[in-house]
Amino acid sequence: MAEVRVPQAVRWASAGAALEIIDQTRLPENTTYLRLGSAVETAAAIREMRVRGAPAIGIAAAMGLAVEMGRLARSGVPLGAEAFQEAHALLRSTRPTGHNLSWALERMRCAYARCAGAAAAEVVAALRAEADAIAAEDRLACRRIGELGFELLPPEGATVYTHCNAGALATGGIGTAVAPIYVARERGVPVRVIVGETRPLLQGSRLTAWELSQAGVDVTVVADSVAASLMKEGRVNLVITGADRIAANGDVANKIGTYGLAVLAGHHGIPFYVAAPVSTIDPATRNGGRIPVEQRDAAEVRQGCGAVTAPREVAIANPAFDVTPAGFITAIVTERGVLRPPYSAGIAEVAGQGEGSRPLESG
Ligand code: MRU
Repeated sequence: MAEVRVPQAVRWASAGAALEIIDQTRLPENTTYLRLGSAVETAAAIREMRVRGAPAIGIAAAMGLAVEMGRLARSGVPLGAEAFQEAHALLRSTRPTGHNLSWALERMRCAYARCAGAAAAEVVAALRAEADAIAAEDRLACRRIGELGFELLPPEGATVYTHCNAGALATGGIGTAVAPIYVARERGVPVRVIVGETRPLLQGSRLTAWELSQAGVDVTVVADSVAASLMKEGRVNLVITGADRIAANGDVANKIGTYGLAVLAGHHGIPFYVAAPVSTIDPATRNGGRIPVEQRDAAEVRQGCGAVTAPREVAIANPAFDVTPAGFITAIVTERGVLRPPYSAGIAEVAGQGEGSRPLESG
C-alpha cells in the first residue's frame, strides 16, 4: 500500500511571512487552519495548545521565530541581538516540560549567531532555512521511528494501546508512537489500536482517534480507567507512547497517565515502548526528578469539556505530565536505533551522534 496520508500540523503560509497550524482545540469536529504572523501569536497558540506535541511545538516555535524576524525586518526594525532574544525568550517561556522546544530554539540561536550582522534579508532567509531543516529532519525521524518500531510488532498483527497523541498532529511527519502503526497499515499488517481518552484535554479521543480513523486504522477509544482491565483480560499486546523529555538515565516525561500505564503493563508482563526522536532527549538532565512538570489551569479539569464537572469551591491539581522511571520501559525507539535498558550508554551515544549517523540496532 502507498504511504499513508496524514494531516500536517504546522506549515508555512504567505511565502514564509507566516505559519499555519491546524487548530487542535477544534478537533475532531472542525479542521480549521490558524495563521500566525508573529512571535506573540505563535506563543499564544502554543500556550493554548492549538499546536501541541513536543516535536510540533519545537517546529512551530522555530517557524514563529523566523516569521517574527521577517515581520520586524519588513517594519524596518534592526534585527539586533535584543530583538532576537526577546522573541526567543517569549517562545521559550510557553511550555516547560517538552525538550524539543528549547532544542529547536537553540538551533535557531546558533543559526542567528552564524549570520548576525548580515543584511536583514539574509538573516531572515537563514532563519527560515533552519526552521525548514528542523521540520524536514523531524519528518524523516518519524518515518525511521515508524520503520524501527514496526519491527517490534508481532508479524501477525497486534492490539496496541496508546495514550495522548504522539501522531502526525504532534510532529512534522507520521508521528512517533503512532508511526509504527502507520507503517503496519502501509505493509498490510493488521494492527488494532486502543487509545485512552487522555483526560483532561482528551488528546487521545479528540486527536489520535481522529487521525487514525482518517487513515483507515482500526481504532477504539476507551476511558483512561479501562486500561487496567483490558490488560488483565489479555486484550493488549503492547503499549507505545511518545515522550516530551527523556533524561540521561532513560526516565521519560510524557502526558499525565503514562506512568500508570507503564506500571500496569509491567504488572501484566506487557511490553511498554516509548518512541521519540533524539531531539526529545535531554542529556543535560540527569534523571526524571529534574524534569519540570507543567501545571496547567484548574479550569481544564473543572470544566474542560464545557460542563462543570467539579464543585467550584474545591481545589484542583492539574499536572500535565508525569515521569515514568526507566525501569518500566522495555525499549526506547529513536530514529538512530532501538535503545534497551540500561539506557545511559545508549542515550549518550545517540544524543552525541551527528547528522548521517547510522542506527544502532535495526530491530
Ligand atoms: O500536552 P501535550 O498534548 O502537548 O502533550 C503531548 C504528549 O504528551 C505527547 O505524548 C508527546 O509530546 C509526544 S508527541 C510526539
